[in-house]
Amino acid sequence: MIREIKNGRLFFDGCDTVELAKKYGTPIYVMSQTDIESRFDELKRDFTDKYPNTRVAYASKAFCTVGMYKICEKNGISIDIVSLGELIAAEKAGFPAERIEFNGNNKLPAEIDKAVRYGVGRFIVDGLQELPLIEAAAEKYQKKVNVIIRITPGVAASTHDYIVTGKKDSKFGIPLDDDIFLPVVKQAIDSPWIEFLGLHMHIGSQLFENDAFIKALDVVMDHAAKIKEKFGVAIREVNFGGGFGVKYTDEVRKPYSFFLDPLMAELEKRSAEIGIERPAAVIEPGRSIVAEAGITLYTVGQIKDIPGLRKYVSIDGGMGDNIRVALYQAEYDAVIANKADAEATETVTVCGKCCESGDIILTDFKIPAGVEAGDILATFSTGAYGYSMASNYNNNPIPGVVLVKDGQSDWLVKPQTPEQIIQNNVVPDFI
Ligand code: LLP
Repeated sequence: MIREIKNGRLFFDGCDTVELAKKYGTPIYVMSQTDIESRFDELKRDFTDKYPNTRVAYASKAFCTVGMYKICEKNGISIDIVSLGELIAAEKAGFPAERIEFNGNNKLPAEIDKAVRYGVGRFIVDGLQELPLIEAAAEKYQKKVNVIIRITPGVAASTHDYIVTGKKDSKFGIPLDDDIFLPVVKQAIDSPWIEFLGLHMHIGSQLFENDAFIKALDVVMDHAAKIKEKFGVAIREVNFGGGFGVKYTDEVRKPYSFFLDPLMAELEKRSAEIGIERPAAVIEPGRSIVAEAGITLYTVGQIKDIPGLRKYVSIDGGMGDNIRVALYQAEYDAVIANKADAEATETVTVCGKCCESGDIILTDFKIPAGVEAGDILATFSTGAYGYSMASNYNNNPIPGVVLVKDGQSDWLVKPQTPEQIIQNNVVPDFI
């Protein structure tokens, strides 16, 4: 069990969270290596060992740190990156270039240049102007570059509007109109600098049903058939994207096999129909690898009780370390880590310290009565898109990240200091 209660305290991956708060300070993100690796084990058992010619590329946008890349590397996982910053972190981790897959809807020329020079394994082409940029860099470094083309399958997955990506009106992917899609594919096939491998889809995030995945895959395979018919080329790779849902409050995370077994069956069936070998299958999970592996620890400060209305409990972090509540109306579960077995009888609203009324982490949430300054609040499932979307609003430093594993703990990222926030500030002479 990653989460346990012992002597009234919350333990996480064998570590007493109240002691972690004392030792490392708050606010602090805590990531469990055991939980991350249990996801990798599940994927190995139910995907990469079960089906030949398959690969997992961790979507590092969910949680990108040098140490996380080391964990991926050690577990034989590839990574999906979307920026120079993520590439530099991967380089720092000594991550093997051929296991890096480069996504993103507006890869900058400097990013493409660096990625080609580094020798990344794949570019997932997402826009019409991208191929010529890749070709130019490939020629410059005299390296042939592997390319997958991301399509917009025109499928609406059911999730929050901000994280839907598969419908036609999307900034991501190549539209499937023949006069747009086919010329891009032809350009990739004809280029001496490009190895055209196949197609990519990503329909959205925090998904619990597989019908939209299957529908999108069908669209991908319809277009694989078109590519075979028009150009006589068999695609060799299909990327299903990520999006597998996790538990924040009442949700139940579905095993990867729930999504992947039907997808693999469909891929097999459709490949046979088209008369091509079953292409390599790749997934890009982000949230499902790290969300539940992370908690955030805060210290309770001011408490404001408005009689008959609401009790606000302030913590020393907030929207700077978790923007998901304000941005997606996300809901979380939490406990008072030093009163973890006390019955939750009092309803409070937990707010952050930013100058923003929307800086709320938990609304009308039940905690044990008698919350007081100095209590440690732990919010659960904060490992994905928490640290990676953190901000310096109000010049609050971004909290550090502690990695825990079987009772051991150490820094993964040290906390930012206020001085570091202003280190690039300059004062022009003409002020
Ligand atoms: N592949 C591609 C091309 C993506 O755009 C994404 C996520 C993933 C994979 C990973 O999806 P995941 O397995 O993590 O659901 N900030 C939002 C989520 C944005 C997702 C962006 N793309 C949130 O906090 O809910």
